[in-house]
Amino acid sequence: MSAIDFDQPVNRRDTSSVKWERYADQSVLPMWIADTDFKAPDAILEALTQRIEHGVFGYTSAPDELTQTIVERMQRLYQWQIKSEWIVWIPGLVCGLNITCKALSTLQPDTDSKVLIPDPIYPYFNSAAKHSAVGVCKVPMLQIGQRWVVDFAQLEASITPETIALLFCNPHNPAGTVYTLEELQKISAILLKYKLYICSDEIHCDLILDKNATHIPIASLNRDIEQQCITLMAPSKSFNIAGLGCSFAIIANKNLRQKFQTAAVGIVPGVNLLGYSATLAAYTKCDAWLLQKNAYLKANHDYLLAEINTIPGLKMLPHQATYLAWIDVSAANLKDPALFFEQAGVGLSPGADFGNKHFVRLNFGCTKELLTEAVKRMRNAILNHLQG
Ligand SMILES: Cc1ncc(COP(=O)(O)O)c(C=O)c1O
Repeated sequence: MSAIDFDQPVNRRDTSSVKWERYADQSVLPMWIADTDFKAPDAILEALTQRIEHGVFGYTSAPDELTQTIVERMQRLYQWQIKSEWIVWIPGLVCGLNITCKALSTLQPDTDSKVLIPDPIYPYFNSAAKHSAVGVCKVPMLQIGQRWVVDFAQLEASITPETIALLFCNPHNPAGTVYTLEELQKISAILLKYKLYICSDEIHCDLILDKNATHIPIASLNRDIEQQCITLMAPSKSFNIAGLGCSFAIIANKNLRQKFQTAAVGIVPGVNLLGYSATLAAYTKCDAWLLQKNAYLKANHDYLLAEINTIPGLKMLPHQATYLAWIDVSAANLKDPALFFEQAGVGLSPGADFGNKHFVRLNFGCTKELLTEAVKRMRNAILNHLQG
């Protein structure tokens, strides 16, 4: 496969892109919501074209070949032997988090069930619990060395008779942590000790940037934790096809799977047929593309890391995965950090949305040129602020 030119910008204006439409009339660089600006791989475009040319778009189920591909993929990448019937197709991971909470809320109907959620976290974890009237107990993440990791002691100390599950994110959004085998074993031991379920959002699993890190699905650790786990995965972030809405849950425990499916009935639509076609192409033909894209993201990450840490008042730790940088701006003394940078021409996600108002999240899944301009604007804004 020849080298792909990720430096080549794709004009996303006037395409109803959520990311770009927010600043349609302004010269703000959109670096907030988590999709990248890269074109999907050719193999996906070809699969979609072929499907469209067929011309009939009726109700569609997951192709057997795709289900088999997922089974083989779990074995090949993670030595995790799953069965095809464990796979439940869903149109998105936020949807998966919501179905999970609804299903969990039916498991202990007589108690006020609570879920543990690491803090900070992608905001839809908390809202999913809220939508199903499940209580939330936030478990802080601690900076250990150069990484943010959930506080294991606090995780265990927070468990009460009402606690039903942990909603987990690995790789973690926004901190970019890839949990190690040892860390996952600790979490698994706690969950098994207290007989808690876990919903593990692993949407960023293909986007590992740190060559010393490996993604491990927590459900693959042992057959016991597998029985208590709902694993959520998707090709959406990896291949930039979030708009095609194709994701899946892997649930080994039959009772839990049935609860999950029941919670979705009549509310959650099936995956659309273009999503299935794109996912099959992604998982069978796009490994080389993904490697090249991750190398590009890693170069962007390294550039950003070096630059941010030379801007007074800003601090960034190395991220092991994802294209989302979690930037500490506490020392810059900004009243509303995201608004401050927006006024300087860079549209970031407010850290407050994730649980920490002293941070901003920057999406570096874009061309190096755009990233360079964003860094320049951020640096100038901070220097002006400090002089003012
Ligand atoms: C951890 C995590 N889960 C879920 C989602 C959203 O997934 P979907 O678009 O499939 O609902 C995102 C998107 O940023 C995410 O980072």
